[in-house]
Amino acid sequence: MDKAGFQGIILAAGEGKRMFSKNPKVLHKLCGITMIEHIMNTAKLAGAKELIVVVGHKGEEVERRLKDVKVSYQKEQLGTGHALMQALKYIKDNTVFVLCGDTPLLEAQTLRNMFEYHRTNNNHATVLTANLKDPYNYGRIIRNKQGQVLEIVEERDADTNQKEITEINSGIYLFEGSFLKTFLNKLDNDNDQGEYYLTDIIKIYKENHLKIGAFLIENSDEVMGVNNRLQLNVAESLMRKRINEGHMLKGVTIVDPLNTYIDLTVKLEKDTTILPGCIITGNTFVDEDAVIGPNSQIEGSHIGKGAVVKNSVVIDSFVGDGASIGPFSNLRPGNVIGKSAKIGDFVEMKNSTFGDHSKASHLTYIGDGDVGKNVNIGCGVVFVNYDGKEKHRTIVEDNCFIGCNVNLISPVTIGKNSYIAAGTTVTKDVPEANLAVGRAKQENKEGWVKRKGLLK
Ligand code: UD1
Ligand code: CA
Repeated sequence: MDKAGFQGIILAAGEGKRMFSKNPKVLHKLCGITMIEHIMNTAKLAGAKELIVVVGHKGEEVERRLKDVKVSYQKEQLGTGHALMQALKYIKDNTVFVLCGDTPLLEAQTLRNMFEYHRTNNNHATVLTANLKDPYNYGRIIRNKQGQVLEIVEERDADTNQKEITEINSGIYLFEGSFLKTFLNKLDNDNDQGEYYLTDIIKIYKENHLKIGAFLIENSDEVMGVNNRLQLNVAESLMRKRINEGHMLKGVTIVDPLNTYIDLTVKLEKDTTILPGCIITGNTFVDEDAVIGPNSQIEGSHIGKGAVVKNSVVIDSFVGDGASIGPFSNLRPGNVIGKSAKIGDFVEMKNSTFGDHSKASHLTYIGDGDVGKNVNIGCGVVFVNYDGKEKHRTIVEDNCFIGCNVNLISPVTIGKNSYIAAGTTVTKDVPEANLAVGRAKQENKEGWVKRKGLLK
């Protein structure tokens, strides 16, 4: 490890009782990413050369989500100090960042600044602190008259004077590994909860005349800990604001940012427009000049240049340049929609391809279909893909015209340039350039209404 590098240790073994969840706290997501991934990404971005994650409660579940990290198990959750002890075997003599799994808003730049502060002051330990209007439940930073940090006192162990202190412990620290290894084992559990508090290490350092610093940050939002669903919601709202502002500053028009939900994993090109009420998630990419919304949900999809998605759902699908989707289309997973194609109102599609310039303007189900280019699909067409046991495919080749209310009973192929008359139920293949008509012949009964005495 080079001199400027540091190890990062993330404490993530706690159950998160206050979440009232069957899932471990750090696997709860904000803007599409779990809390543990947020903090890992931040640590890596800040320059961590190596990451160690301490897991415990449902540890296997957490571990499954982790890549390229060392994992330590804390079998019993006996406190943050005890959690760090479990990682001792991995701690080197260089600088160690100790982070919590439940502070997803932390920014890499803050960690870099804190690291710089720690090094230039030659501290043995530095704690990241912030002033909070409502410091309730956080550990408080106790300083002497000269402003030196003496200790950290937990809310439940604090006296009334200490509770007045607004400077809180973020739970994020920098230590020199060599000293940490000497003093970590000196923690005891003589406190209200009978836990080994990592916070007590500050007092121990002080008693041993080591140099402690506090790096006070202005934006206290960053160190917000997520302990319950209310805090999860507050943190997610702040993160969403950050994401939307980031997109806007890079050339995306977001008409109503408070009503636009974009995951961290989404990429938007410049000059895209997001109208109110959109939820865009997963690995979605939206290309230049596309217009999304209002009220659309896009998940894991590619939306091409200048495409329009209006009042629709698009899941795991590819929408070509200039295509138009909606209003009220439902694209279930697995569609590839060609350039300038049109999928109109009340059209449902799944696992289908749909060629350039083809249209299905209204009230159609396209399931397991392969539709060529320049095909027109009339109103009320059904790709009958399911026989009660199995799904089959329907092929409609280029330049076909499928009339209204047609049933295409799959497996079936409509050869190119063919026409299917309205109301036809197609049960056998149609060769190229044919007209298929499959419906009862119409008969007009002359004088019938009068004979029945129904004429008005
Ligand atoms: C902790 C700090 C508190 C600080 C606050 C900031 C202690 C004693 N208190 O309190 O001073 O203001 O964070 O958010 O450190 N964990 C384990 N094993 C355990 C217990 C906790 O790995 O046995 C992990 C949790 O998964 C979590 C982190 O440590 O990621 C913090 O634990 P939590 O119980 O949330 O501590 P707080 O009560 O918030
Ligand atoms: Ca916490």
